[in-house]
Amino acid sequence: MKRLGVNIDHIATIRNARGEKHPDPYYAATQVINMGADSVTIHLREDRRHINDLDAKNICNLKKVLVNLEISMNDKIVKNALKIKPDYICIVPENRKEVTTEGGLNLEKNQKKLNSIIKKFKKAKIRTSLFINPSIKDIKLSKMLDTDCVEIHTGKISNLIKSGKNYTHELNRIKNSSALANMFDIEVHAGHGLDYKTTKILNKIKEIQEFNIGHFIIGEAVFIGLSKVIKNFKKIIRN
Ligand code: PXP
Repeated sequence: MKRLGVNIDHIATIRNARGEKHPDPYYAATQVINMGADSVTIHLREDRRHINDLDAKNICNLKKVLVNLEISMNDKIVKNALKIKPDYICIVPENRKEVTTEGGLNLEKNQKKLNSIIKKFKKAKIRTSLFINPSIKDIKLSKMLDTDCVEIHTGKISNLIKSGKNYTHELNRIKNSSALANMFDIEVHAGHGLDYKTTKILNKIKEIQEFNIGHFIIGEAVFIGLSKVIKNFKKIIRN
């Protein structure tokens, strides 16, 4: 059965816009699980632009919530993550100026560092994943690095689909990478830029076992939830 991980970073983005407590990502973590998500994803960025250390610590301490903590290769963050001890770790590239994670890790360049980080997480019995581009070379490197999972960056195919361009080549890259990873016994996840349409297309790839989706879910939830909140206010002011 394919699993859905819900990325709640942007709940923290909205909270931080006011510097107050609402909406609370800790509460969101419990709510999305009650609503059917299989896990919660949070990205503790080096610049702490959304989730902060206290959020990460509290959310990772939740007993009935499987937490996938995304982190960069930064030594301090890795140390912190080993202390927080989430259920899952996904190592992602981070670039100070990016609005969001723009692509997969450069496995070749960071092989030595990744090797040592993965060993630490595996020793701590934390499921470890690498956020990668869909390429055969990167799947082979992932195998050498002995990662438990890979998460395929779906930003490129999402952009092609959303702009009505031909996405066959990119889809084939994802299909072939997923098949090889599966052959190597590496669990395959997918994430970035996914919405209903892109997820429907990628869901046909049987090897993909987990989708991690954030921005679209939080954005779409505004429209699905807005009418209820407006009704609640109307009730209050009419009484
Ligand atoms: N997976 C990973 C590894 C990510 O870093 C992110 C956020 O960039 C996502 C999934 C979710 O992406 P989105 O918010 O575009 O759904």
